[in-house]
Amino acid sequence: MTALRVLSVASEAFPLVKTGGLGDVVGALPEALAREGIETVTLIPGYARVVEALRERTIVRSYDYLHGAPAHLLAGQAGGLDLLVLDAPHLFARGGNPYVAPDGADWPDNAQRFAALGTVAADLSQGAVPGFVPDVLHAHDWQAAIAIALLHYRGGPRPGTVMTVHNLAFQGKFPRDLLADIGLPPHAFSADGVEYYGHIGYLKGGLALADRITTVSPTYAAEIRSVEHGMGLDGLLRHRANALSGILNGVDTVVWNPATDPHLVSPYDARRLARRAANRAALQARIGLAPDPDALLVGVVSRLTWQKGMDLLPSVLPALRALGGQLALIGAGDYELENQLAQEAAAEPERIAVTIGYDESLAHQIQGSVDVLLVPSRFEPCGLTQLCALRYGAVPLVARAGGLADTVVDANTMALAADAGTGFVFAPGSVDALGFALERAALLRRDTRAWQQVQRRGMKTDVSWQRPAEQYAALFRALVAERAG
Ligand code: ADP
Ligand code: GLC
Repeated sequence: MTALRVLSVASEAFPLVKTGGLGDVVGALPEALAREGIETVTLIPGYARVVEALRERTIVRSYDYLHGAPAHLLAGQAGGLDLLVLDAPHLFARGGNPYVAPDGADWPDNAQRFAALGTVAADLSQGAVPGFVPDVLHAHDWQAAIAIALLHYRGGPRPGTVMTVHNLAFQGKFPRDLLADIGLPPHAFSADGVEYYGHIGYLKGGLALADRITTVSPTYAAEIRSVEHGMGLDGLLRHRANALSGILNGVDTVVWNPATDPHLVSPYDARRLARRAANRAALQARIGLAPDPDALLVGVVSRLTWQKGMDLLPSVLPALRALGGQLALIGAGDYELENQLAQEAAAEPERIAVTIGYDESLAHQIQGSVDVLLVPSRFEPCGLTQLCALRYGAVPLVARAGGLADTVVDANTMALAADAGTGFVFAPGSVDALGFALERAALLRRDTRAWQQVQRRGMKTDVSWQRPAEQYAALFRALVAERAG
């Protein structure tokens, strides 16, 4: 099989820059695709830390003027990735979050910042850098979606285009008077182009014009065609149903391996589950929980937002209290939620530990210690923390939504009788259903043997990138073949 070349375009890539699962996926997929004979070059913005990390960098193209000032396109390696980095300090060399200014509002020039990224992606797609001609342009989320629209309206030869939706809630919606500034012709502002309820929609344009659309789980691929979950784009997604499919995410099984995890005081595997007890004691000491070896220890590793159902947590605490449980949470997000959860912890520090912030090490320690990893999302395109939890023997307790529904098998009575079940699944958005699932978990945990079987089944579940990579590879190859034929 001939090697196929993919230009992957995104606004983040782990380990260089990550605000959530998008970064994990963009960072991990290339290596898995390489095993399928697919070469990936990843184009990301030149945030200061990305430019600093780039090794053996060369300038492969220069722009005299790109949305306000000169810019360079750098090639090099970092974080195990073959990278093209858009070094445009006037757009990307800023402190803080890639999307949001320190005052909490979106950067006011996000339309221009990601139009610049899209322009460079479109140039690369049409052979702007000698020796590099991609077969597929793979755009992730709204920040890259505009590349597909720019390419479409230029005309001329182009690679196949694939739009991957990681989260339909973030759409990149901008005023219509920016059309020319973005680099689009007047006729692009139409129902079958980038026009979106009187605005310019970056994601809308990508969804309308991509050859293929994928999202990160089969259930989410179905859900987003409904009014309830379509976030205004369901009509378009129904129209494009033949081009739309769901491919589950994986996790990096080297980064997430309980047997070798450097963040754990006591690494373990499915045969040595007793070793988790030392991690639990260390976690309880680190975050100030009572040193109780028996309490049902529930973990949360999450953005603190409505999507993640984090506003339900205060109402669930009475049920947890009644079960004698403890909560270990690491998260950051909405200011009000952060405060509310911190207050709950301050009132009951031996039972509820809330760490506000972003901390990879604590995330690993929670996964390596807790009995139950709670993911109560209202909607969840895929979700990665429940996959990590499966691998770590932290029994996932999840809402029945999107990728959560696709990855956790409910350990109900009949499932257990059939030697199945890897976690607990409840109706999204319902505090009562969540409380009932917690009760079921607490009850099952009293039966150590049955509980360990659930843990071990989870740990045996294949959460690696292998199967997803095979599916992406098949999709890319079919697209290229179709376009060649
Ligand atoms: P989303 O991308 O919607 O936030 P995912 O579950 O797909 O949700 O991915 C979240 C990723 O970010 C996971 O790798 C998770 O471990 C990590 N993560 C989320 N919040 C934190 C945090 N506060 N500290 C450390 N890691 C976090
Ligand atoms: C988004 C989604 C999450 C998904 C991640 C990676 O952030 O919210 O469900 O796992 O992207 O695809």
